[in-house]
Amino acid sequence: MRRRLHITTKGALQLDGPRIPHLQELDRVIGLVNTVFSPENRSMGFEFPQLFSGDNLARLRIFVDSRAGTPVAHAGYVAQELVVEGCRLPVAALGSVCTLPEFRGRGLASGLVKSIMEQARSEGLVMMLISGDSNVYKRLGAIETGDFVRVGARREELPRLREAVRAWLKGKEIVCRKAKPEDVPAMAAVYRREPVRYVRSVKSFSELTWWRPEMKRLFAFESMRIASTGREMLAYIVTRLRTLDDGRVRLHVPEFAGPRWAVACLMERACAELAPDMLTMTVCASDLDMIETLRRAELPLRRTVLPGYTVMALDSAALLNSVEPILAERDGATRDDSLSALSGAELVKALFGGANAIPLPVPGLNYT
Ligand SMILES: CC(C)(COP(=O)(O)OP(=O)(O)OC[C@H]1O[C@@H](n2cnc3c(N)ncnc32)[C@H](O)[C@@H]1OP(=O)(O)O)[C@@H](O)C(=O)NCCC(=O)NCCS
Repeated sequence: MRRRLHITTKGALQLDGPRIPHLQELDRVIGLVNTVFSPENRSMGFEFPQLFSGDNLARLRIFVDSRAGTPVAHAGYVAQELVVEGCRLPVAALGSVCTLPEFRGRGLASGLVKSIMEQARSEGLVMMLISGDSNVYKRLGAIETGDFVRVGARREELPRLREAVRAWLKGKEIVCRKAKPEDVPAMAAVYRREPVRYVRSVKSFSELTWWRPEMKRLFAFESMRIASTGREMLAYIVTRLRTLDDGRVRLHVPEFAGPRWAVACLMERACAELAPDMLTMTVCASDLDMIETLRRAELPLRRTVLPGYTVMALDSAALLNSVEPILAERDGATRDDSLSALSGAELVKALFGGANAIPLPVPGLNYT
């Protein structure tokens, strides 16, 4: 790790960092993150159990106000693997980056993220998926990228989904209900069949899901619904219901898995039950089945980068190596070697942006 800094400003402020928090400081780190992100008395420690776990301490960085002994800035990541076209890409998922208002504009967040980049490189992670699009990340080489389709339907457009689902369901037996904790192994199996996804064990799936009623995550009430034939699970969706500042209720589907017609049925049932003013969802542009299903329901779709995220190469050569099997299978002998000359943001853009992009999964429950 980079040498620790002691920043002194006008003799008054002494900061210790960037450094790894001690285990006994973890509660205070969570307190700091709650102060910045959670005016509603949420606990980020509870909402992001993998990030703020004692086992993940080496991936957290803080600056501490030496005189008060309290953390004033934090950044942290979780090590994850993406599965894309049969390849596994080791990535860092960075989130909960924050600095107390009175300590901002002194380079603390930038210092923490640089330290995080070194740590993530040292464990062989090739790329960082960053929840956020702050200049802090962009100055360090992150860019907005990815090829996705965003669904944004208003209340008056939702009956079209009902009509389409009715037509698809003719003659099909399907049971839709809220998921229960004992459904996790079957839900994890449905997720594992997704071609573009995170590697997620049954244990992680359990940690990332919510089973208490009225559970708030990310300012929204989160729940999960499953569709089955009665015997086997077919599909599930995660729903986040949030009242926006203007009073409208938004139903967001951050994650889904399984046959797309069954996913659409679950979305329709959730809309019928929750009566949102709007429905939103982000779909990977390579997921033609989901996109075509939504198009047939005449829901409004628009092409976008991964909303709210930025992506950074941590090790350009290693990133290129990781995606080599994808490129080789796509291009064969006509392989374009100009990619080898690219690095950093240019490489990320060439690999994951625009036409012929390598698909990236929607973070969904893996949101950090
Ligand atoms: C975003 C956030 C983490 C930035 O924290 P920070 O410690 O102020 O970040 P930095 O000081 O490294 O950078 C902030 C700005 O100060 C500038 N800066 C850095 N060092 C500086 C210094 N020594 N003197 C003056 N300005 C400096 C940077 O250039 C940067 O400007 P820019 O954003 O126009 O590029 C902080 O504003 C925050 O907690 N916001 C709320 C939570 C949030 O939104 N988190 C990020 C999710 S995307």
